[in-house]
Amino acid sequence: MDANIEEIIKAMTLEEKASLCSGMDFWHTKPVPRLNIPNIMVADGPHGLRKQASKSGADGLGNSEKSTCFPTASATSCAFDPDLMYEMGQALGEECLDQGISVILGPGANIKRSPVCGRNFEYISEDPFVIGKIAGALISGVQSKHVGTSLKHFAANNQEKARMLCDSVIDERALREIYLSGFEAAVRNAKPWTLMCSYNLLNGIYASEHPRLLTEILRKEWGFEGIVMSDWTAVCNRVKGLAAGLELEMPGSGGENDRFIIEAVKNGSLSEEILDQAVRRLLTLIYKGQNEIVKDPSAYERHNALARKIALASAVLLKNDGLLPANPGQKVAVLGAFAKEARYQGSGSSRINPAYLSNAVDGFKNMGIDYAYADGYKMSGGTPDEAMIHEAVETARGKEIVFIYAGLPDEYESEGFDRDHMDLPDSHNQLISEVVKVNPNVVVILFCGSPVVMPWLPDVKSVLLSYLSGQAGAEASVDLLYGKSVPCGKLTETFPLCLSDNPSYTQFGDKKSVEYRESIFVGYRYYDAANKKVLFPFGFGLSYSSFVYKNLRLSANEMLDSDPLTVTVDVQNTGNYDAKEIVQIYVQAPKSVLFKAPKELKGFAKIDLKKGETGTVTVQLDHRSFAYYNTNIHDWHVESGIYTILAGASSKDIRLSADVKITSTRPDAKVPDYSVESPAYYHLESDNLMIPQNQFEAMYGAKMRIIEPVVKGKYNLDSALFELNHGIAGKFFVRHIHRRFMKKYAADPRSDQSRMFEAQFDDMPVRTLVSFTNGTLRFDTLEGLLLIMNGHMCKGLMFLWKNRK
Ligand code: BGC
Repeated sequence: MDANIEEIIKAMTLEEKASLCSGMDFWHTKPVPRLNIPNIMVADGPHGLRKQASKSGADGLGNSEKSTCFPTASATSCAFDPDLMYEMGQALGEECLDQGISVILGPGANIKRSPVCGRNFEYISEDPFVIGKIAGALISGVQSKHVGTSLKHFAANNQEKARMLCDSVIDERALREIYLSGFEAAVRNAKPWTLMCSYNLLNGIYASEHPRLLTEILRKEWGFEGIVMSDWTAVCNRVKGLAAGLELEMPGSGGENDRFIIEAVKNGSLSEEILDQAVRRLLTLIYKGQNEIVKDPSAYERHNALARKIALASAVLLKNDGLLPANPGQKVAVLGAFAKEARYQGSGSSRINPAYLSNAVDGFKNMGIDYAYADGYKMSGGTPDEAMIHEAVETARGKEIVFIYAGLPDEYESEGFDRDHMDLPDSHNQLISEVVKVNPNVVVILFCGSPVVMPWLPDVKSVLLSYLSGQAGAEASVDLLYGKSVPCGKLTETFPLCLSDNPSYTQFGDKKSVEYRESIFVGYRYYDAANKKVLFPFGFGLSYSSFVYKNLRLSANEMLDSDPLTVTVDVQNTGNYDAKEIVQIYVQAPKSVLFKAPKELKGFAKIDLKKGETGTVTVQLDHRSFAYYNTNIHDWHVESGIYTILAGASSKDIRLSADVKITSTRPDAKVPDYSVESPAYYHLESDNLMIPQNQFEAMYGAKMRIIEPVVKGKYNLDSALFELNHGIAGKFFVRHIHRRFMKKYAADPRSDQSRMFEAQFDDMPVRTLVSFTNGTLRFDTLEGLLLIMNGHMCKGLMFLWKNRK
């Protein structure tokens, strides 16, 4: 739709401009009828469309229009396949057009800092390079259909516990190299229409009002031209937010926050030019998003086939002692309730109501496999049921092959809370360990959103990791088991041996200030540096075929850091199956006074080879492939020296290497050296990563903030509900809100929505109640109530009386 945006801005009143800066309800922007300014609808994301009928977001997470539930990001990233992600993006775009959605809320580009972050299933990787490539491809696919995306959650939202309160304290280098660079690549290359800021604070400032993040870095450095919206209820001080670069508050606050914008412009504390700039960007988005609805009911069947294809490409074969692929003539037992009802997606705002849904047993039936079946465990609750296990053991006895479907049930991982361990339910573990006692030919097929430990691993023959493989994934798993499709996925995250091996272990979770003391040592960067054994390394995945890597060639042996470098490797399929291989290119930096990871992924390529065939993969490297972020010059910098280029089948299976001598174009830049104040970063080979606070502070460049507990008398709009729980008035208020809130958002106490809201309720700041009620609860009312809770009964009552409406 053509619109002269400058003319429209001139015609708008201050009130109309402010009104555009917040949502009308949970999913729509506001129209301005006087000027015929239309509005748009946004919806979750990211691995399928969740269009809700209700405007308040209260109709239950799964009660949305039907759409295709693709595998979640933890799975799809394992395909290492940007083209496939582009195809998935196109399909998402088509469903948005079919359902009248202008912007789909995703992809999620947060780093998997800990394996137990409840939302890891929605995130791509522990490695920012993979994140940038996968997120960028998905965005480009969606936007090729003229539908927008919202890259989220910007930034450093790496845990669910206290996500609305906690301060992620990250040193500048780790922020740039690890936490921002996936966002950066996606913004620069794919130009998302919108970006969603996160709930948390970053180094003491709310992400929703962080000028450095939202304007300096995002717009000025990376050239972002879209709009920034808040995560749902993440707005703190609206005026500060607008000035910092947050254009859209979502959902609305019933006009409450618009009022502050109007006041600020009137009293001169906010320049109208800043508001106009935001309105200009919002109008650009709104007019760009005026798509015709393109009804295409047949799309959903096509997309079901695509979801299946993606699931096949994403599964990772973790172990195979020759039992797979299975032979259709074998006598088979299929065990585990997940075979009949797989866990195929995660819980929370990304919950999809699938257009189609099949299960593993459908796959066995379709293939004409005659199998004996037993549930083995109950779908929820982890307590082993002896009778069910006994039945399963008897079913497995004497069979030539036993497939056990296992994994994490819904209540184990979700948006809104983190896991506190990496165990499967006891009922699943015990089923497996009892069955292997009577039959050694066991294959475990795992459905989970993130890493688990596998105490039975040495006793089973094969393990196929499906992750959360979408509406068609469980059925597709049977194709992989029987070799109709050859597994080719590789892990985009490390599976540690135990949770305490993870470098964030002591600095994660229930804190208001989370110190990212491990700095750049996230995922394989840490396990490599610390020489730690892991269960499965980053980049790992088996095939039924085998591959030989030969002839690693570099386009130069010597170069300037500004020159590109082309890396080529020949790969031969030496096995008995046509199959795909994912080749990973890592860069090893020369020794430096600055601590570095032993190697970093800087390229990958996937190649499809017939048995016996040889092909060549090519990867382009550039300045950034060799650079670290230099905190002295606040820029990317390449040190002169010999860099080793490694070609690997995983981070632990490096097959070939070659050196290139690089000369820096900025030889004078002083390289930071922390070896005296922070020696721990140079010696990580201890049992647990324990960077002392003073060494972190020395590297971070400041002392940690002391966060005083919030006590009665000090309650304010940013206080969390749990903090109000001291006096009688506070307790009463919290109980009342809890009842109302649960009734509205979590009517069914067994639902995952209920679990998620229950888990995050205590940590919600008081101010979020305004958006959650779309302004029915006003800031004035909350302030009056806070006065009462703070012990000033008369003042509070007078305030409430004066501000009654
Ligand atoms: C989530 C976002 C989501 C939004 C809307 C928030 O709680 O963090 O990822 O897009 O809700 O459902």
